[in-house]
Amino acid sequence: MKTHQLFPLTVGQDSISITEDDRRTMANAINAMRKANPHTNKSSAWTGDTQGQEFLFNDPVFKPIAEKIALKVIDYLKALSINTDLLDLYYQRSWATFTQGEQNIAFHTHAQSNISFAYYLVKPENSGGIIFNGRELQNEVAKDIFNRDKYEQSLITETNAHNAKQIIIDAEQDAIVIFPSKASHATVPNQSSKTRISLSGDITIMLKDSQGFEHLMPNFKHWTALN
Ligand SMILES: [Fe+2]
Repeated sequence: MKTHQLFPLTVGQDSISITEDDRRTMANAINAMRKANPHTNKSSAWTGDTQGQEFLFNDPVFKPIAEKIALKVIDYLKALSINTDLLDLYYQRSWATFTQGEQNIAFHTHAQSNISFAYYLVKPENSGGIIFNGRELQNEVAKDIFNRDKYEQSLITETNAHNAKQIIIDAEQDAIVIFPSKASHATVPNQSSKTRISLSGDITIMLKDSQGFEHLMPNFKHWTALN
């Protein structure tokens, strides 16, 4: 039977090449940041955005990678047939994550943002990918029919795009994963003995010229301060 995959969540994946020198320089800078701003919940990954380090791309060390990521974000928007010529794009926040043995990040969204990404600066084997949550499981013809126990009891014969409640993307080092900020996601626990380091960011899109548009953020250059 032919089936139609309606309304898919589109997650972009591409690769960015950098020199090993640049990788080391950025990793060392992040490690220094982490040591200077330690976190308390050791079961969770160290995330710079919650430790006062949420403007990473303002640091000159990270400018070249920010420029490379920008090109991939524009490619992603083009894949969605969005005309980026009419938009201004801003990194509103950017930060590093540092994940050691068994640490992870619980499910969350980036509600204040439009587009988010993860770039894997250091990604040892088995150090964990990103999980996307099926926010509304449209094919769930009976409640919980696609839960893991139904698969284990052979009611569901395989997990696939039609019935998956969660999908893991376990990309290689140097990969970038780009997605709508509202997509619920988490990270897989690091099961290697080595550290995973990723760069993340939130991007705001706004119209260059909002004339004639009702529902998209007008350019902040025209906003009026009220305090
Ligand atoms: Fe996130």
